[in-house]
Amino acid sequence: MFKSITVKKSLATAVLMAGLMPCWQPSAIAKEGMWLPPSLSSQEREMKAAGLQIAIDKIYNENGTGLNNAVVLFGKGCTGEIISSKGLLLTNHHCGYSSAQALSGDGKDFFADGYWAKDFKEELPCKGLTVTFIRKIQNVTDRILQDIADTVANDIRDSIVKVRVALAEKEIAKESGYEVLIKPYFKGNEYWAAIHETFRDIRFVGFPPNGIGAFGGDEENWMWPRHTGDFSIFRVYAGADNKPADYSPDNKPYESPRHFTINTGGIKEGDFTMVYGFPGTTNEYISSFALKHVYSIADPISIEARTRKLDVWMTHMKADRNIFIKYTAKRASVANGWKKWQGEVTGLKLNNVTGKKEIYEREFTKWAAADKTMPWADDLLPRMKKAAEGVDKEKTEYQYIKEAVLGIEIVQHAAIIGKMLAVMRAGLAQDTMKDSLLSLVKAGEGFYKNYDLATDRDVFMSLMTYYLQQPPEAIPDHFKKSQAIYAGNMQRWADMVFNKSLLSNRQKLSAWATNATPADSAALITDPAWQIYDAIDNHNKQKVQPALKEYNKEMPYLERLYMKAQMAQNKNKVFYPDANLTLRLAWGKIKGLDPDGQAGYSWQTTLDEAIALDDTSKEIFTVPAKLKELHQRKDYGRWSEKGVMPLAFIATNHTTGGNSGSPVLNGKGQLIGTNFDRANEGTMSDYYFDPSRCRNISVDIRYTLFIIEKFGGAGWLIDEMDIVTK
Ligand code: ARG
Ligand code: GLU
Repeated sequence: MFKSITVKKSLATAVLMAGLMPCWQPSAIAKEGMWLPPSLSSQEREMKAAGLQIAIDKIYNENGTGLNNAVVLFGKGCTGEIISSKGLLLTNHHCGYSSAQALSGDGKDFFADGYWAKDFKEELPCKGLTVTFIRKIQNVTDRILQDIADTVANDIRDSIVKVRVALAEKEIAKESGYEVLIKPYFKGNEYWAAIHETFRDIRFVGFPPNGIGAFGGDEENWMWPRHTGDFSIFRVYAGADNKPADYSPDNKPYESPRHFTINTGGIKEGDFTMVYGFPGTTNEYISSFALKHVYSIADPISIEARTRKLDVWMTHMKADRNIFIKYTAKRASVANGWKKWQGEVTGLKLNNVTGKKEIYEREFTKWAAADKTMPWADDLLPRMKKAAEGVDKEKTEYQYIKEAVLGIEIVQHAAIIGKMLAVMRAGLAQDTMKDSLLSLVKAGEGFYKNYDLATDRDVFMSLMTYYLQQPPEAIPDHFKKSQAIYAGNMQRWADMVFNKSLLSNRQKLSAWATNATPADSAALITDPAWQIYDAIDNHNKQKVQPALKEYNKEMPYLERLYMKAQMAQNKNKVFYPDANLTLRLAWGKIKGLDPDGQAGYSWQTTLDEAIALDDTSKEIFTVPAKLKELHQRKDYGRWSEKGVMPLAFIATNHTTGGNSGSPVLNGKGQLIGTNFDRANEGTMSDYYFDPSRCRNISVDIRYTLFIIEKFGGAGWLIDEMDIVTK
């Protein structure tokens, strides 16, 4: 993503600048950005200077030959790349995880054993999985925003825009013969259409066991150095006409108009890199006021609540293997955010990002006062400040509700009782009522597959204690009464809730529903888990949401105008739009990491280092025996460099969630790796990109090929790839 042009400066100036440089004054040392492919010409000069060797229109064009035709949105939130003329697709292991889960079972455990199809026939259909190619991206701002004044309120504006977007999507789809999705960019100041093609027959081809694909687990997650072979292989299938088709055994491997050439010639620090993919969400132009909500409210409350929850979960998971299996996927997802936000807060503070934003905002204020073209600009920052500070209390309360109270599984699950009560109050005939109740109960039964009551009871005690630390006015009366009844003894309160609730096991609620008559609703109304849910839900609706709703109306309006004004103020700066899960290109270079100016970390890790971490007492650090043998024999095929097997590397590309699985390319547009993560404090790049701390982490393509060929024994897949060494 960002790139560096080094400018010599004195140490004193450098220190001063690091502390005080306003956010996006063109930085002397690197280039942030997630660029819209059709706007890449704005980057061409700098990219060429940094190491790009191909024409910009090889990366993206509208005649079907651009590399955009080899990048896909994988599922709903990952990226993948096409690596053969037969639709072979490479993405992350963690992006293929749910497919592997769905295909495991009946004695098959792809997490323990991996999976390697030996021929096309062994490629397994993945129900519901899709991949989407972007054929063309078109600026439709004029037709969407024509004659709408900037200062029209967002709700009026949105209703006009909605109609125009629907119409334009229909028309462009008709003209192009493809599907079309129009999204807002630059906070709604621009609209772009993605003309795309979605394939529906996707098959599971290669999946390393967790000892490779998830090696290091949560411990190494969001960290550098990293030793995870986070990749998996799929294939796109099409109908006889090479067009998207529903699954059929007669479908053929898709012949994509473009696929990536793979370069195994080796990489080094300083090499130019690009990441081409679908970043999900960033907020780079956020005001200092809204940013405060992130690091002083949302992140710390979520971190504390999740620390408590994860502590309890881990204790129970370690004590009982069954609980481990039930909670492992949930834990990974709760821990993923938990760890990311810790890095984010550290990064935002270490960099004094608020201070930098404030300096930038003072410049904006001066400009707005002098500017005559946007008379409304003057007012924007004071209004944003007032709006943001006006909801500090509600933002705080809401975060506690979401993470602490609704973080208790049984309380969150109690929403089902609200639905059952609605059924009972609907005046239905007895049989209809019973059927509706039982179908609700049935729909809720999946919950128990991965649920442990004793674990959740301990979570209740820990999270409720945390929740009740708030000032009394933030706490619903029902909670205060319970506290009084149990004289603050959380254990007794928890015992009552978990013993008495109809939700405490799978059979209790369905047994109750089977015999219920409308007169029985009292049992639901007095259910202790429901009472907690109901109390918090009412408190949220009455005391918290009204102010937040106003805020969520006001702030996007102000942010849209602020974005527009900033672009007018900085006419010479090339802006990139915030991520919105559309195709983007980031560029940067391979570079080590030196977060505290001490010794720093190399830009690369190796298989030797992974083997050194092998620890059979920890599941996530257990290296598969076969990999150890290959390592011992140095049986690396043609994929090693001077007898060493490279594993992962870092670079300065600006990425975020959604970029998982993205192709990492060299200056020739050839594949050198697969993106899968970011280094710890660098996750603040969702708000502020700092080249000294922000790194994307990728699997080296040579490690991927080695695992496929030597570990997986699936050399037939290598045969269909185009591999070069220069
Ligand atoms: N941090 C990466 C991402 O946000 C990888 C997550 C999967 N790995 C894990 N240990 N949970 O998606
Ligand atoms: N692991 C993330 C994902 O699944 C990518 C890492 C990031 O946020 O940069 O998209």
